[in-house]
Amino acid sequence: ENNRRLVVVSNRVADFKAKFQTGGLAVALGDALKASKGLWFGWSGDTRDDALSVPPHVENISGLTVATIDLTDKEAEGYYYGYANRCLWPALHYRLDLAQSNEEQSEIYFQVNGRFADALMPLLQPNDIIWINDYHLIPLAEELRGRGCTARIGFFLHTPFPSPEIFAAIPSQKRLGNALMVYDVVGFQTTSDRDNFRRYVTASLDGEQLQGDRVTAQGETTLASVFPVGIDVNHFKTLADEEDAKGALLPDAGEDVKTIIGVDRLDYTKGLPERLRAFEVLLEQYPEHRGKVRLVQIAPPTREGLPVYQEIRENVERLVGRINGRFGDLSWQPVIYMHRGVPQNILVRLFRRSHVGLVTPLHDGMNLVAKEYIAAQAAQDPGVLVLSRFAGAAEQLREALLINPHDIQETARALDGALTMPRQERWARHNRLWQRIETYDLFNWRDSFIQSFAESDTNPVNLF
Ligand code: G6P
Repeated sequence: ENNRRLVVVSNRVADFKAKFQTGGLAVALGDALKASKGLWFGWSGDTRDDALSVPPHVENISGLTVATIDLTDKEAEGYYYGYANRCLWPALHYRLDLAQSNEEQSEIYFQVNGRFADALMPLLQPNDIIWINDYHLIPLAEELRGRGCTARIGFFLHTPFPSPEIFAAIPSQKRLGNALMVYDVVGFQTTSDRDNFRRYVTASLDGEQLQGDRVTAQGETTLASVFPVGIDVNHFKTLADEEDAKGALLPDAGEDVKTIIGVDRLDYTKGLPERLRAFEVLLEQYPEHRGKVRLVQIAPPTREGLPVYQEIRENVERLVGRINGRFGDLSWQPVIYMHRGVPQNILVRLFRRSHVGLVTPLHDGMNLVAKEYIAAQAAQDPGVLVLSRFAGAAEQLREALLINPHDIQETARALDGALTMPRQERWARHNRLWQRIETYDLFNWRDSFIQSFAESDTNPVNLF
């Protein structure tokens, strides 16, 4: 019996009842889970006073099992809003200035990981392999092992792993580092994330680098490797072709008005103020574009309970107002801004019709919007991707116009270059980018990560 059941754990589980399934993770993991009649385990997103005494909610949805637990308000506050998003998220994105240290919250974070383990243990079967996702759940393997779990367990970090000096500044960093060492495999988005982790293990955990991506510390050995997350390229292309046939979405601004598109959760890591300032500089210093270009920025709300997210929203909205007030006139609005998500079919249609995809995070694990923009382009007349060097995607997407998002002038120059790029060059760059996203797609990511669990195992994993 070679077939294993796949168990995926993440803070959030996909909403399979949602009309539009967005998010690459939900689609990829959903397919993987169905193939092995798997289990997806996570937080329901809800809180209730008696959460500690309520068993997991278990549901069968199209061939896979989804199990969720509720948290108490205190747990959600300490674990999700607290240590995970007030401390880890900013630190992993190099924002130590925003990372808040609070011992009570970090304790609750470790306790909630224990609660995940308590609830998950009875649902496990002898042949399971367990795939744990992201910074919310770093201690989970240690908690499971402590309860006698012997399954193979892999961890994938969707965010950057920062340089060792930054990681070492996180409160409770050693507990996190040692907890990572417990995994059979730790997966990263880019080689620089993996190398940062390797250097951290030697510098802070007294560990050693072994051959073949293995590292050892405190008596534990783990495989630290790179698995860049991708998208379902053909799904996006097909959807974009179908949707494009339905025609333009935006009010017609005239034949020669070009569109720049940005789509990001309204997060301070996404470089939205820098992006807006670069667009303003474009209009200021390249007056030939005035009246001829518009920036469509879609920025759905995220983590609104935290003050720093309220601040970034105010900052972005002030800049949008300033640019529209300064340059707009009765027939032309430079920035179209929405603080709302849009369904995937509408998004791909916007991507297809936009001349420039603008992705400017100050730091980002991968950034799938960059890949989705490429996948949605028409092969014969593609648009141009302007991409931050600090997105994980930049390691693969080298034919994009790569910019330093902190350098407003450079970004404005790249925008001018993108808006005026001849078709032959657009086509040549697009071809190379397309090959990359097609080779390293969602299924390649999923399969190679799962395969890595089996590396030192006598029973090969055969899920598909
Ligand atoms: C990032 C994280 C994910 C997280 C997502 C949305 O992509 O890596 O783990 O789910 O943001 O954030 P939220 O806090 O709404 O789950």
